Amino acid sequence: MPKLKIDLEVNNRKVSKETDAHKRLLDFLRDDLNLTGAKEGCGAGECGTCSVFVDGKLVKSCLMPVAKAAGTKIETIEGLADPGKLTPMQKAFHKTGASQCGYCIPGMVMAATSALRENPSAGIEEIKERLGGNICRCTGYTKIFEAVELARDVIAGDMPQEALEEDAVGSSYIGHNVRRIDAPSKVSGRLRYAADVKMHDMLQLQVLRSPHPHAKIISIDTSDAEAMEGVVCVLTSDDVPVETDGFGVFVHDQPIMARGKVRHVGEAVAAVAAEDLVTARRAVAKIKVVYEELPGVFDPVEAMKSGAAVVHEYAENNVVKHIPVRKGDVEAGFANADIVLEDDFSTQQVEHAYLEPEAGIAYVDPDDVIVVMSPSQNITHHRHMLAHILGKPINKVRFIMSAVGGGFGGKEDMIYQGMLAIAAIKTNRPVQLNFTREESIIASAKRHPSRVHYKMGLKWNGEITAIQFDMVSDGGAYGMSSEGVMRKAAILSCGPYEVHNLSVDTTAVYTNNTPSGAFRTFGGMQAQFATESMMDMAAEALEMDPFEIRRVNMMKIGSKTHTQHELSAASLDRCLDAAEKESRWEKGTPNVRGDKRSDLGGDDTRAPCTLGARFTNDKHTDNERVV
Ligand code: FES
Ligand code: FES
Repeated sequence: MPKLKIDLEVNNRKVSKETDAHKRLLDFLRDDLNLTGAKEGCGAGECGTCSVFVDGKLVKSCLMPVAKAAGTKIETIEGLADPGKLTPMQKAFHKTGASQCGYCIPGMVMAATSALRENPSAGIEEIKERLGGNICRCTGYTKIFEAVELARDVIAGDMPQEALEEDAVGSSYIGHNVRRIDAPSKVSGRLRYAADVKMHDMLQLQVLRSPHPHAKIISIDTSDAEAMEGVVCVLTSDDVPVETDGFGVFVHDQPIMARGKVRHVGEAVAAVAAEDLVTARRAVAKIKVVYEELPGVFDPVEAMKSGAAVVHEYAENNVVKHIPVRKGDVEAGFANADIVLEDDFSTQQVEHAYLEPEAGIAYVDPDDVIVVMSPSQNITHHRHMLAHILGKPINKVRFIMSAVGGGFGGKEDMIYQGMLAIAAIKTNRPVQLNFTREESIIASAKRHPSRVHYKMGLKWNGEITAIQFDMVSDGGAYGMSSEGVMRKAAILSCGPYEVHNLSVDTTAVYTNNTPSGAFRTFGGMQAQFATESMMDMAAEALEMDPFEIRRVNMMKIGSKTHTQHELSAASLDRCLDAAEKESRWEKGTPNVRGDKRSDLGGDDTRAPCTLGARFTNDKHTDNERVV
């Protein structure tokens, strides 16, 4: 690879180095200078995690070729404060609790620092605008904006320095503002995520992924890739013991790499471990796979019909899991109703979009223990599965949970740690795999897209007499957490309401779509969307206030849930009272409210927003909102 000699200044130190000419400034800082505070969240200029100052200007270092940085002065998050110290901005982020997973925070601190350097008295709207190029998936931004305002006021002398220190907690932490103990490493960029860790002699792994949703693998020719200089090994399913290959949280249906056939676009087919990333990528491009395409199935309802393509031979009807719940007499409940409502609800696939793409390292330690370090949300389970697949005793497999740069359930499945482990065993060297953003989106599990057919019977007073709830969810190509998601959806299906007669079915179905898995609420969100929509529609049909119909049906102490759990505590009444009061709810049926509502647009009401448009906080009509 062509080399480039570069001279520049980084964090007040002269740097003179020879580097690869193709590198971006971000790679140079991270790989050549070990300054890993700048992160790669997207590699496309969208997220801001890679932000640094170049000659005093905030720049996304993933977009800047290293050659263009020659002769410049670079400032990274590591250079903002003296070693062991924090700037007022970093202290303010610590004070307000602005960092959660922390992956976005170095970039956020750089953007916030830039905002106040450009305008030390920036108001909140300007601060928001100046931070507009930085994405956070955890905090909801409020604490970040509070931090910037706090730092601004302290720097300007409008607030004392002590405002940045921890509040006194006295003899109890309860009711006090307590700072996170892990925040200093996050606001200073010192915390190392898996992609930030470097080991001596470490190889880089890259993965060949399926372009087809459903196809037989006729042959894989790795000879050209193996012959390349710098390639240390190529992996396929032949490197995994056939008898034990297969992982999954509930059903072990997913091979470490596709075995015999691929079941979704993006499935891992082969992998290359090489001396460097570029060689690994080039070698992956040289692997030749002959596929025979198979008919695919992409709709979960169609997938259950006879004659549909079968995704896994063990499940001829493509059902991953069906959870039925029955209580009382549903037919009698509907017969006893004054009104029966029926409708369909659907929710879409959702990507977790955690800021930290998947990453990991595996190595064999001096005691022959295979060690895997990754931001896994389920390491004990992964450890047991990997030990089984490798045929090793559990004490010869170790998982280390690295800092998780956001997961939201999406890092519960072992979709790459097995490949890393096998590569490390095969090469007897540390091996690292860092996903690109595109790879993360194509290969990781998503929220289950679901369809619910809902039937609800009610008395004129709003009392629910019966519910029939039928949910079909697209589980995608592998089982992953589908079984747990279906259980939770079934348990939460009818909301916090006491229903004496109900019939609930939740079913996850295999298709050739990207696998579905765990995501915040684990199926509860899809179920609640249908139930709460139905409650509002029922309120409208019965001309009741939406709060009142919920009070009529809410569970109380002594109520039995539809899974026969008798409640010894219940607080929905207090939640409803508080929500009604704080929102200044204007009573009425949903269909008489419309434009006449007076409970929106108050001083403490958050203005609505949409992607790409900003709304004013003023009271507004629909036609006047966008500015
Ligand atoms: S903007 Fe550079 S990594 Fe996202
Ligand atoms: S704290 Fe911002 S992405 Fe997690």
